[in-house]
Amino acid sequence: MEQQVLKVDHITQQFGGLSALKDINMELNRGEIVGVIGPNGAGKTTLFNVITGVYKPTKGMVFIDGKNGTGKKPFEITKMGFARTFQNIRLFPRMTILENVMMGAYCRTSANVFQIIADTPKKKKEHIRIRERALELLKMMGLYEYRYELPTSLPYGEQRRLEIARALATEPMVLLLDEPAAGMNDQETEDLRKIILMLKQEGYTILLIEHDMKFVMNICERIYVLDHGELIAQGKPEEVNSDPKVIEAYLGKDED
Ligand SMILES: Nc1ncnc2c1ncn2[C@@H]1O[C@H](COP(=O)(O)OP(=O)(O)OP(=O)(O)O)[C@@H](O)[C@H]1O
Ligand SMILES: [Mg+2]
Repeated sequence: MEQQVLKVDHITQQFGGLSALKDINMELNRGEIVGVIGPNGAGKTTLFNVITGVYKPTKGMVFIDGKNGTGKKPFEITKMGFARTFQNIRLFPRMTILENVMMGAYCRTSANVFQIIADTPKKKKEHIRIRERALELLKMMGLYEYRYELPTSLPYGEQRRLEIARALATEPMVLLLDEPAAGMNDQETEDLRKIILMLKQEGYTILLIEHDMKFVMNICERIYVLDHGELIAQGKPEEVNSDPKVIEAYLGKDED
């Protein structure tokens, strides 16, 4: 088992004339909670998209658990042990909450996602195992009682928790969370903080994009700061917090 689960090695991502990421280096070690912060348009989500294979980087390499993950497809990255949630929640609106979580698991199995019919004993056994695990994850996220409802029936904060449950169903070693506290009220944010700390206890490694500085400062051991596609600072929360470049990047923008 590698200690380093992610290495982003001189990554540049160009969109036409725009450099969304410029020569970014970063590392993630097993068991860490690491934050990625930065103003709107800094390149945070693009970084996740490069890591998870949504974009093939213009330059540079991504190493996943010591293996080359550069330019791999999203489902391959999932199989390599990385799961993510999305900034704009992406749930299956016509499936129940339970089925949404089960879909996460099916990407790990031999079963065809479009044909979840348990027509052989082996598939049936697998289906039962996946269902049990999905129910367990729903309990863990406090969503068990809603399992037969549609995700749209849930308040925003709980939809985000459902996305985390679905990500966990892929049996990841690393969780990438893109603004998991966005749109949450104080209570929901506090619940989420507890969930993330519990996930760390369980051995997951977590990379977290967040706008809410207080949330990141509270929970992350290390932080990377992006601004205009550049890595302008990195370090412990208190170091980053007092870094003049970071203060300028945040104060220079009219937001929050
Ligand atoms: N597919 C794309 N095509 C062209 N430009 C893109 C694409 N994806 C992102 N960008 C641009 O790249 C820059 C970085 O965007 P990104 O979404 O990564 O920022 P972000 O830090 O996640 O911002 P936010 O806090 O608003 O979510 C922005 O200028 C954005 O418009
Ligand atoms: Mg974003």
